Amino acid sequence: MCGRGCPLKQRTTDGLARVRGLLHRFTTPLLPDDYSVLLNPLWSTRELRGKIDSVERQGDAVHLRITPGWGVPTHFEAGQYIGIGVEVDGRYTWRSYSLTNAPTPEDGTLSITVRAVEKGKLSNHLVGTATPGTTVRLAAPAGDFHLSDPPPAQLAFVTAGTGITPIISMLRTMEQRGQFGATNVAVVYSSRHESEQLFTEELQRFAETYPENFTLVTRITSESSRITPENIEQFVPDITQRTIYACGPSAMLDDFESWAKAKGVTLRTERFSLERESDAEGGTITFPSGRSVTVDGATTVLEASEQAGAQLPFGCRMGICHTCTRTLAEGHAMDLRTGEEHEPGSRFRTCVSVACGDITVQ
Ligand code: FES
Repeated sequence: MCGRGCPLKQRTTDGLARVRGLLHRFTTPLLPDDYSVLLNPLWSTRELRGKIDSVERQGDAVHLRITPGWGVPTHFEAGQYIGIGVEVDGRYTWRSYSLTNAPTPEDGTLSITVRAVEKGKLSNHLVGTATPGTTVRLAAPAGDFHLSDPPPAQLAFVTAGTGITPIISMLRTMEQRGQFGATNVAVVYSSRHESEQLFTEELQRFAETYPENFTLVTRITSESSRITPENIEQFVPDITQRTIYACGPSAMLDDFESWAKAKGVTLRTERFSLERESDAEGGTITFPSGRSVTVDGATTVLEASEQAGAQLPFGCRMGICHTCTRTLAEGHAMDLRTGEEHEPGSRFRTCVSVACGDITVQ
């Protein structure tokens, strides 16, 4: 085993630090990074990097194991996601994917599963062409959708499609911590087609290994009706007594949120797409080049810059990588994820923020 705290890993890290120190002494004025990345592309201090170690394709999905490079935190909360940037057509494209491994992987690697989606530039690229040895950029693990420790005594996971990915991390973590027993778990997992189901064997193994404490309900929606708040009690009769973690399409989450509110059920949800409804009214946005454009309150400042032909830098387009951060010179902008309003003079992420009236971006 060589995870966090492993002496071998510590010696390797110390060795790398010494190499960096020597490079710094002998390579100034150039940055040590310029040389160290030539020795090993993962030794960059300017950006977080990783190397794809293994690629396992499953239909229109791919399971990737990534060795994190210098400075990438490998400890995270089960259920969190990681930002990944890959060069596609000469430009870095960023997306975030849920980590699927438990937070203390024995081999120190990070795992994600990606399904190709229509118009999904990065997902199609990874599913179609990812190969072991490819260097990728990474953003530190993040996200509020994670499992408490210890978990609630009565727990249900309601998930559909690739929404199973953060859930499998939570299940693996619970098993690693020996928490099946103190916690009773029900997993309700829907997929459109049987061939799209992920982690099937592992879910089945959980059900067989912990028959008293693990209930698995799978649903193929091309063959039978969807599981909804109205019919879920047929499958998990005590669902309203459980803390529910739900991850899947927005429509499913909307339905379960209304139902949980009405029933007083504790529900935590994970949404990957930006919710564009806010009180922001939009306005005229002026960019550093002097170009300006008038947009509504659902158009992000980054999208507005593209409309105006005043291209701003960007990476993930999801508020993760900070590449798009600019200073708000005048006016107010709202972060669509949090509702936070940015004041003049503050730094803000243009990819997830909209204008509250006229603004000027520096
Ligand atoms: S582009 Fe990554 S945070 Fe905005």
